[in-house]
Amino acid sequence: MGWNNILLEKDNGIAILTVNRPDVLNALDADTLLEVGLAMDQLDQDDEVRVVIITGAGNKAFVAGADIAFMQKLKPMESKNFSRLGQKVFSKIENLSKPVIAAVNGFALGGGCEFAMACDIRIASENAKFGQPEVSLGINAGFGATQRLPRLVNPGIAKEMLFTGDYYSAEAAERMGLINHVVPGAELMKYCINMAKRIAARGPIAVQLTKEAINDGLEMDLEKGFLHEANIFGVAFSTEDRDEGFASYLDKRKPEFKGK
Ligand code: COA
Repeated sequence: MGWNNILLEKDNGIAILTVNRPDVLNALDADTLLEVGLAMDQLDQDDEVRVVIITGAGNKAFVAGADIAFMQKLKPMESKNFSRLGQKVFSKIENLSKPVIAAVNGFALGGGCEFAMACDIRIASENAKFGQPEVSLGINAGFGATQRLPRLVNPGIAKEMLFTGDYYSAEAAERMGLINHVVPGAELMKYCINMAKRIAARGPIAVQLTKEAINDGLEMDLEKGFLHEANIFGVAFSTEDRDEGFASYLDKRKPEFKGK
């Protein structure tokens, strides 16, 4: 399908989704969110895709937030719907049946920071800037930050970010545990693609089950989480990938996983 606000490329099991509104630093309006949601539905069902990378067009911004000009026109119930749309689309990313890496190549503010938070892994370029500046606009964060941020970093750090609206360097974001790694801008995509390739070479069902175990486990008490892990472990042992993984190890060769 033709996209207006995103780009979607696929190569060797790795899909790259680029938010493509560089004139407004890739700000998110409803149409852009709908396209991201549709792309996630497609990628979820696409057996050829094993890992997804999300980035922003240009070298200045990942996503500089929800589109302020778009939001200015919203009435209260329309803004609630817009918030629900952003939350639902970001939940599709969080629950996608394959790992999602955010390649944060510049500003990740407001909805952009929330977008990155919904991804499984966040890698940032040295020029990236993170923040939740909604309170500067007299509103609160509406695409999940009040819920995801305190689960991701400690609640005090989340509150500092959400109360002050301050911007944080990539280095500070790494220290806070908001992102995994900082890399030079010129190496960002190469770094993310290399990580995606390493993940794509593993057993895809095992990776999918691992994502499910982690996401579900975060909502459970520890003992229920352990039981969930054991049940999933049993499922992994029912796959052809498990047979291939064990056989290739014993044969001293590289496994060829089929995702079956
Ligand atoms: N919504 C709508 N438009 C946005 C936007 C957003 N969130 N972020 C940037 N833009 C637009 C700017 O309005 C500008 O458009 P113009 O060329 O028509 O004036 C264009 O993108 C380029 O941004 P500009 O402000 O000129 O770049 P800058 O380098 O001077 O500043 C930022 C970069 C990110 C600091 C600044 O754009 C900004 O503060 N953006 C809003 C961030 C924000 O509050 N996000 C949370 C929203 S809830």
